Amino acid sequence: MKIKKAIIPAAGLGTRVLPASKSVPKEMLNIVDKPAIQYLVEEAAASGIEDILVITNRGKGLIEDHFDHSFELEANLAGNPSKAKLYESVKECADLANIYFIRQKETKGLAHAILAGRSFIGDDPFVVLYGDDVIINNENPVTKQMIELYEKYEKGIVGVEAVPEELIHLYCSLGLTDIPGEDKLWKCWQINEKPKPEEVLSLYAILGRVVLPANAMDMIAEGIAKTPADKEFYLTDVFTDMGKAGNLLAYAYDGRHYDMGNKMGIMKANCEVALDHPEIGEDFKAYLKELVKTF
Ligand code: UTP
Repeated sequence: MKIKKAIIPAAGLGTRVLPASKSVPKEMLNIVDKPAIQYLVEEAAASGIEDILVITNRGKGLIEDHFDHSFELEANLAGNPSKAKLYESVKECADLANIYFIRQKETKGLAHAILAGRSFIGDDPFVVLYGDDVIINNENPVTKQMIELYEKYEKGIVGVEAVPEELIHLYCSLGLTDIPGEDKLWKCWQINEKPKPEEVLSLYAILGRVVLPANAMDMIAEGIAKTPADKEFYLTDVFTDMGKAGNLLAYAYDGRHYDMGNKMGIMKANCEVALDHPEIGEDFKAYLKELVKTF
């Protein structure tokens, strides 16, 4: 079944990047000349996704404005031939895909945010692009890599990366079994959230992208219904249940990942994207070379 729908949860509080994220959502923080969330929407569109639901909340109206037409700005740029490129770049934000918005009315975690998209998803499989995880592969977008695997194996796919041993306690740790003939894809049978040393199963953690069957929504709804109102229900519990039933694969994607939810991630994203940028790349490289001499 072709996957045409994606959800981007972007309703978190972004406490790790305060005060920057006080009035600007962290998903709107800049990477050189585009907000982080635009990289996600471009990745989804380049992967064949047609309909994208962004989960927002109060104070995230900037995201909606960014993907809408700005008639005054467009009319101004359109009248100036020297600004033709800028005009195109502004206009295309509104034309990348069909983008819908819904609010998560209480900030009750990632699983709760995704469930806000239940009626949008209906009976279709879908991709989740975590709103603050920018993953760059311009030749073969990570969402496309994962959709192809979903279509081949018809099992849920979690995108994973190896994290340093001293940091694994901040992430989750996956129990993995080899699949003959595959070197970056495993069966995933267990996920330990924020593991203690004795709970570390591997150094692979889920980072940024997952592809799920429609019934994952039912699993989230059931999990939330069973969880006391003052506790968070974790998406990893759904993954664990899928894994135990033999319905989950883990894929070490091919792409450069930047966590826009923390300061180092934001700086790495800006630095590396600037070095590759057609307009400023060379100048920025020269600047950095000079700068390192002063350390
Ligand atoms: P994070 O856990 O990184 O987001 O969620 P956060 O809660 O904003 O982070 P901190 O810890 O306070 O800094 C990953 C993605 O899920 C979204 C976030 O916006 C982010 O893009 N999210 C998280 C929601 O949409 N709703 C939530 O209730 C929580």
